[in-house]
Amino acid sequence: MKALILGGAGYIGSHVCLEFLAAGHHVTVFDNLSSGTKENIFPEEQFVEGDIMDYDALSQEMRKGYDVVVHLAAFKAAGESMLVPEKYARNNIAGTINVLNAMVEHGVKYFVFSSSAAVYGEPSYLPIDEKHPTNPENFYGFTKLEIERILAWYDKLKGIRYAALRYFNAAGYDPQGRVRGLEKNPANLLPVIMEVAAGKRKELQVFGNDYPTKDGTGIRDYVHVSDLAIGHVAALNYMKKNDASLIVNLGSEEGLSVLEILEQARRITGKPIPAIITARRPGDPAKLVAGSQLAQKLLGWKARYSDVETLVKTSWNVYLPHCK
Ligand code: UD1
Repeated sequence: MKALILGGAGYIGSHVCLEFLAAGHHVTVFDNLSSGTKENIFPEEQFVEGDIMDYDALSQEMRKGYDVVVHLAAFKAAGESMLVPEKYARNNIAGTINVLNAMVEHGVKYFVFSSSAAVYGEPSYLPIDEKHPTNPENFYGFTKLEIERILAWYDKLKGIRYAALRYFNAAGYDPQGRVRGLEKNPANLLPVIMEVAAGKRKELQVFGNDYPTKDGTGIRDYVHVSDLAIGHVAALNYMKKNDASLIVNLGSEEGLSVLEILEQARRITGKPIPAIITARRPGDPAKLVAGSQLAQKLLGWKARYSDVETLVKTSWNVYLPHCK
């Protein structure tokens, strides 16, 4: 099928492109390079530099005829979204409406959307399955939920079939080492740890060690980015086969604490990785773990690369050449 991958030069997008190519799809990357890099574009020659805020650019590209749009072109810093919601409203909501309207104009039928576990907010039970109430704690999560709601209407009124994939914590790099470009100014745990290990940052700040968890630090469900990417291909197959939309969690169903990841990173990199305990980061829940039974049932999907060893090793392979 012909796939237009919005945000395909980004961290998750580049891995999605590799999986779409491996599955035999024809891939074009559409990206404004605000956080993505040219180094991470696959295939290199199928690149359109453009912004989802530019309706005409989207429409001009979609006029060429696509079967599926995969949309990963969004801002994702939960903390920033609470300070500058207008940036998130504009790009993540208005930008996505542009995308959907261009799809309607040109009759593109399938849409794969990067949603997030942030749509759930503070968990009322664990593991979090798709029936869990949605009550985002930050504006970023709200933008994702808002699009899910709009998608339900475009499905009903315009026949667009969509897959909203609620990612838990994306981490790791392509096990085959094809993705080499680093994320710019990362704020997430594993890339921050890698930057400390590589000597690009002085220390890790552990945001709180007084949570009601086994070692007092936050627990998250880290899912390997290649597992996520495989989930996108499986979601497209599901939509095609069943002519139906779906909303699913993509998580490993394993909870890892900040200290567990840190300890494994010290062991695997052989670097001291200095860390200090600081105050909790506002809006951080103690523990988030996915229930991913639905993805297994509908998509035959299960995380395969999301063990801590693979998460850290595949990341270190990319950061090691940048060691100071
Ligand atoms: C958040 C969002 C998630 C979004 C992701 C992408 C929520 C609930 N989750 O994940 O939807 O897709 O960002 O950016 O909004 N930590 C430290 N020190 C650091 C960095 C992180 O101790 O320097 C800790 C955090 O307190 C947390 C864990 O590490 O316990 C993971 O944090 P992070 O990688 O930022 O991801 P989330 O906040 O869970």
